[in-house]
Amino acid sequence: MAEVYHIPAMLRETIDGLNIKPEGTYVDVTFGGGGHSRAILEAGAGRLFSFDQDADALKNAIDDSRWEFVHSNFRYLRNWMDFYGVDGIDGLLADLGVSFHHFDCPERGFSFRFSAPLDMRMNQTAKRTAADIINTYSEEELARIFWLYGELKNGRQIARNICKARLNAPIARTEELVQSLTPLFAIRDGEIDVPPQKKKELAQLFQALRIEVNDELGALREMLVAARDLLKPGGRIAILTYHSLEDRLVKNFLRSGNLEGEIEKDFYGNILTPFTLIEKGREASEEEVERNPRARSAKLRIAEKREITKS
Ligand SMILES: C[S@@+](CC[C@H](N)C(=O)[O-])C[C@H]1O[C@@H](n2cnc3c(N)ncnc32)[C@H](O)[C@@H]1O
Repeated sequence: MAEVYHIPAMLRETIDGLNIKPEGTYVDVTFGGGGHSRAILEAGAGRLFSFDQDADALKNAIDDSRWEFVHSNFRYLRNWMDFYGVDGIDGLLADLGVSFHHFDCPERGFSFRFSAPLDMRMNQTAKRTAADIINTYSEEELARIFWLYGELKNGRQIARNICKARLNAPIARTEELVQSLTPLFAIRDGEIDVPPQKKKELAQLFQALRIEVNDELGALREMLVAARDLLKPGGRIAILTYHSLEDRLVKNFLRSGNLEGEIEKDFYGNILTPFTLIEKGREASEEEVERNPRARSAKLRIAEKREITKS
């Protein structure tokens, strides 16, 4: 069966919310399977730049003269727009995190379901893999990322187990990491069969590691600031988040217009923010979750750049 590269979440809600202007310039910073990008072009965008740091996404290239693929981390959004001579955009979409392709492709090492090298790099030319982190971070550093990015209450215990195990030999494969949480499991035909009650914790552990490997929050912060400055008045930013940490960051940024989330007020007490909120954390409909269970954790936030911004 042909691989489903990705099924986009809240496709209609996102495109409607972007309020596409015919002939406007748009950016999709997370191209993936290209579902959202195609819909932006169908809605009449004049020009679309689609970013993805994973070269695999180019399999989904769109044959359209209005479309440009930018094989780069979206943290360099500003540099690339300068390169293309674009000084203002009418809208930007970010559908954060990884695609189905990443989870479903065993050799990429994103999933605890498959026996594979512990890789987890979205950009396959990046230097640092998940195995590098697991084998070189201190116990405290590991515990911190498990707690912070995976919300694992037993992060300290898991970090301790990992550090003990790696004294014998480096941890190089997914199943060796699974071992730190679940001593008993079977592997059949390359698939790791873990007890059902351990699946949630393992998903949290793998998520934490993936966020660290790809510096997902650092890239998001840089992109948000660039997007704020590039958006034209009336332009919209739409962001789909998938876990509480990135969602909180996006929520505070769109409310305040800054990474600190500090709401500034003028002399009269009026709130000074560059954005008007359009969608405040919309979730996928039950019908969509039924069709596409991975849309369950998605939250859609949309804001419009105001006409007058503070100097
Ligand atoms: C959730 S998928 C996007 C799916 C897409 N909306 C679609 O319709 O198929 C996220 C994609 O963004 C890419 N990505 C994630 N973080 C990135 C970053 N910092 N820079 C560039 N691409 C990134 C991933 O490689 C992945 O292909």
